[in-house]
Amino acid sequence: MMASRSHRPPSLTTSLLLAAAALAACKGASAPAAAPPVGSAAAPPTAATPAAPAPTDDAYDTRTPVPMPPMMAAHHKQQMRDHLLAIQEITAALATDDFAAVEASAGRIAWSEEQAMMCQHMGAGTPGFGDLGEAFHHTADGIVTAARDRDRAGVLTALGATLQTCTGCHETYRQVVVADGGGMPGAGMPGAGGPGPMPGMHGGGAPGAMHGR
Ligand code: HEC
Repeated sequence: MMASRSHRPPSLTTSLLLAAAALAACKGASAPAAAPPVGSAAAPPTAATPAAPAPTDDAYDTRTPVPMPPMMAAHHKQQMRDHLLAIQEITAALATDDFAAVEASAGRIAWSEEQAMMCQHMGAGTPGFGDLGEAFHHTADGIVTAARDRDRAGVLTALGATLQTCTGCHETYRQVVVADGGGMPGAGMPGAGGPGPMPGMHGGGAPGAMHGR
């Protein structure tokens, strides 16, 4: 299970070596099509592997997996795309000193009880993930505060700090889609009665339903 895996991010050296190995594999014209290295530390757990597993990059991706059932995984990615949209909006608004717009967009990624619950819910199977998510939202609070003060340099500083939490998490964690209810210790919300969708999660709603909330 995941618990036995290290949660430290891969060292830069490891990443570079892997990248070099991947490049070498690509360039070798006669190399057989990428068989995953035997016994690789990044190999997925074998227990629930279906008979004909779809090919994945798991063996080459040394980041810590965050297991999520399909609907949660899709919801997570949708949120991520909206986070990026918020960053884009903040940047564009700052260029015209539109601090009200900066504040509005930053408010979408700022910390809230609901955001915190969602981070912890999604990270329920992965120690550290939920806390890192919450830390990210707290950092984004700094953008809101600086925008209220019409503090241009302050907005940029907080924006930089926020982006650092984005990239830090992306360096450390990757998403893996798992079967519903399978392989997720604590898939249910602590204290919220079972693994059903979160309040506020779209349940078959149109893509983009998260926007403007
Ligand atoms: C606590 C961890 C965490 C934080 C903080 C975080 N992300 Fe992510 N994000 C992820 C994970 C995990 C994935 C899936 C990446 C993968 O599996 O390769 C992801 C994926 C994405 C994607 C791809 C979405 C898709 O449709 O595939 C985008 C875009 C993205 N993040 C943007 C952002 C931005 C912008 C921020 C900050 C404003 C941010 N993320 C902060 C964890 C995080």
